Amino acid sequence: MRLNEIVELDKKYYMNTFSRAPVCFERGEGMYLWDIDGKRYTDLLAGIAVSALGHSHPALVQAISDQASKLIHCSNLYYIEYQAKLAQLIAENSCADRVFFANSGAEANEGAIKLARLYYRKKGYPEKYEIITLEKSFHGRTLATLAATGQAKYQKNYSPLTPKFQSVPINDPEALEKAVTPNTCAVMIEPIQGEGGVNPTTYEYMRGVRELCDQKDILLIFDEVQCGLGRTGKLFGYQHYDVEPDIFTLAKGLAGGFPIGALCARDFVASAFEPGDHGSTFGGNPLACRAGYAVLSTILNEKLCENSERMGQYLMDSLNGLKKDNPMIREVRGKGLMVGIELAKPVAKAVNMKCLEQGFLVGNVGDSIIRLLPPLIITKKEIDEFIPVFSDILSNEG
Ligand SMILES: Cc1ncc(COP(=O)(O)O)c(C=O)c1O
Repeated sequence: MRLNEIVELDKKYYMNTFSRAPVCFERGEGMYLWDIDGKRYTDLLAGIAVSALGHSHPALVQAISDQASKLIHCSNLYYIEYQAKLAQLIAENSCADRVFFANSGAEANEGAIKLARLYYRKKGYPEKYEIITLEKSFHGRTLATLAATGQAKYQKNYSPLTPKFQSVPINDPEALEKAVTPNTCAVMIEPIQGEGGVNPTTYEYMRGVRELCDQKDILLIFDEVQCGLGRTGKLFGYQHYDVEPDIFTLAKGLAGGFPIGALCARDFVASAFEPGDHGSTFGGNPLACRAGYAVLSTILNEKLCENSERMGQYLMDSLNGLKKDNPMIREVRGKGLMVGIELAKPVAKAVNMKCLEQGFLVGNVGDSIIRLLPPLIITKKEIDEFIPVFSDILSNEG
């Protein structure tokens, strides 16, 4: 089909939920995607932090093909080899002892919220159900995760939201402490906010949050859906802060594009779940977990966290180099390959579309932030090709 025919079909039959760029991709390989007219694009967005291994990585293709030919689904009524193996791999490489698999980031976060409330209920404190999150956070689109999300624009049309969520400004320990009540059961934080515009929490803040949670008997939940799995140059975002959460969630990059989410927790809290307390039909099925196992093993074996750290630094240095001569760049921030470029003018969408025309996929957050979330396999070559093109685009927009 031609692009205009696909667009027409989409406009007629698909719900009008996305403002899409006028491109349809046909195939991908490594750092590149090709559209249906054969034009090649360098992917600096990785399907919004999902295609961690780039496109069509042989380890992932082989794992999915092999598993699909053997067993795709069987339900959680039976034991699943790769579900157990992927849970083990996550636990052995993190502070979690146990894992539950869902199908998305929002669903993993729903699980985290349920687990935190259940934990206190089973301890004899059923009224301890309030959750504090951060302003500008993003935790998902379900009703409870929307309530957790600290951005009114996502919430405003869907009231009443799940009650007893409150958000406070990032990196403000006093505001957090003031929000705590005897009924606070959890503080839920993205170590580095993604959808809010790439906003890292500070080291001191995170240390203080952990201390506060310990003092007041509050669970600490980290939403690592976007910043986890090597994205920031370490396997988990929390490892930048010498602080461990009681619960954390994963999704996006975990199975490299196959839908999966993970709720990960220390044993003392995970053990609140007993048969019947939580569940999912698709969550953790043989195909999703085999894909997840292939991706996480590859991230670890091919040292992609280290590449993310090195290439992230190179990308930030290159962008900061541009900033010196280009007043359009107000700030470059982030960690590893999670990079936000704040522009001096509200032209992020136009800059994004110009990058697309020039064959580079980038993201924009709001009016003035360009976001780069490339596959963890990126090399200097792709960065060196992007920087002069980006520089020209910014100069023309300035
Ligand atoms: C930090 C964070 N949490 C949760 C979500 C929701 O994930 P999903 O879209 O898979 O439900 C996102 C999605 O962007 C995210 O960035």
